[in-house]
Amino acid sequence: MSGAGQSRARDFGHVDVSDSLSVAPGVSRHYSREYAALKQQFSGAPLDVSFRQLVGPLPANEYTHSLYPYPARLLRHIPRFLLSTDAVVEGIVTVFDPFVGSGTVLLEAQLRGFRSIGVEQNPVAALVSRVKTRPSDVSGLAPMLADVLKAAKRRRRVTYPSPLLDRWYTPASRSALGRLLTCITDGVADVDVARLCLALTARRLSMTDPRIPVPVRSARNADASAEDVWSAWQSEARHLMAKLSTLSAQRPPAEVREGDSRNLEMWPTETEAASTLLLTSPPYGAAQKYVRSTSLEAGWLGYAPEGRTAHLEHSNVGREHLSPKDRTLELGDVWDDGLRSVLGAVATKDSRRAQIYVAYFADMQRVFSNARASGVRRIALISGTNNVVGGVLHTNHHLADIVTSLGYRRSMSMRDPIRGRTLLTTRRNGVPSPAEFIDIFERTGDA
Ligand SMILES: C[S@@+](CC[C@H](N)C(=O)[O-])C[C@H]1O[C@@H](n2cnc3c(N)ncnc32)[C@H](O)[C@@H]1O
Repeated sequence: MSGAGQSRARDFGHVDVSDSLSVAPGVSRHYSREYAALKQQFSGAPLDVSFRQLVGPLPANEYTHSLYPYPARLLRHIPRFLLSTDAVVEGIVTVFDPFVGSGTVLLEAQLRGFRSIGVEQNPVAALVSRVKTRPSDVSGLAPMLADVLKAAKRRRRVTYPSPLLDRWYTPASRSALGRLLTCITDGVADVDVARLCLALTARRLSMTDPRIPVPVRSARNADASAEDVWSAWQSEARHLMAKLSTLSAQRPPAEVREGDSRNLEMWPTETEAASTLLLTSPPYGAAQKYVRSTSLEAGWLGYAPEGRTAHLEHSNVGREHLSPKDRTLELGDVWDDGLRSVLGAVATKDSRRAQIYVAYFADMQRVFSNARASGVRRIALISGTNNVVGGVLHTNHHLADIVTSLGYRRSMSMRDPIRGRTLLTTRRNGVPSPAEFIDIFERTGDA
């Protein structure tokens, strides 16, 4: 471990967390020297950095990171590096992620001893984040999950929350899952953990192709029985317990706010924001896959009562289906001249596609305006490029332009050639996905 920060103690209000208590084994290394060396080279253009090489290999099953296979997870090496770098965390008490997904940033913040807040629109992802970062008393969880199973085996009443589920399960597995759900709904001590165990079991028993993140029908589980459901529940419960029990009880709190980060009420207060680092990997422009990839779980957990998940997509930043309101947006709603002309060129080839990106950038303008309005001190933005109608849209540049137009100064830019997002790593038209960009911005006046 390099010297920086070894003996620091940080005050989190109600808990005084010293590094020896708060920093979990394996995450105690600091990268301040490496960052200082990069800073010396930085002259405005992105510096090539491989975070996988810099941080080194991390165990596949580290803490609760792999609790759930959320499609667009962030490469955890990136927040690990940033949150272990003095120049990035200087003056920071709270880490805030307005697009928290399955909670990678919140967990990394906890492991480094920071309190954290995240906002997430997809209720399945929000559930995963809450469980991933829950206060770690695990005693009582294993008997609770065993009791749910025992009760479900006896139970005759079946809760069947969504017609969306019909074609993805055998009648026997649907009935067994519905009985587990009935027992959870009837009241259990740790409802989040029980619901996540159900979501994982339902995922495992569905007639879907496990290699594809969104549900695609396959012959898998075509003859699944109630017995298969019971043993999948037991196995998922065991895995959950094993992961949850790796977390130390000394972690600072992580708060997951379920909702829309375009709303300022979701953000840290002005007082908190002055010592807040916003660290996030925002959704892409046409990111409907986050919702589709969790649609069966959303069905089981009651988020798709009419059998549809379109309402979840409509409140998402980045969506494939435009609402009537989105269609009223115009190129003029995009602030930046350069971006307007890029989207104008897209519109000549595919006006719907252009409209999707107009809506996306208008939404991102609102999100970053909230950063400025609340007074967030520093921003670490992880974003990339998109292939749109045969060309490359430099989403990362355009997002950086929005942030700087709001009164932030870019103090660092790095480019990692390896994409960390599992769903989005695929090659399109034979073109490998290009790099992930990591930009750091300071609120002006503070530098
Ligand atoms: C790239 S993913 C983040 C992945 C996350 N870093 C992780 O490791 O799991 C972007 C997330 O933003 C969420 N999102 C989209 N629109 C949102 C909104 N308006 N408010 C809050 N979250 C939103 C999506 O549901 C998705 O989970």
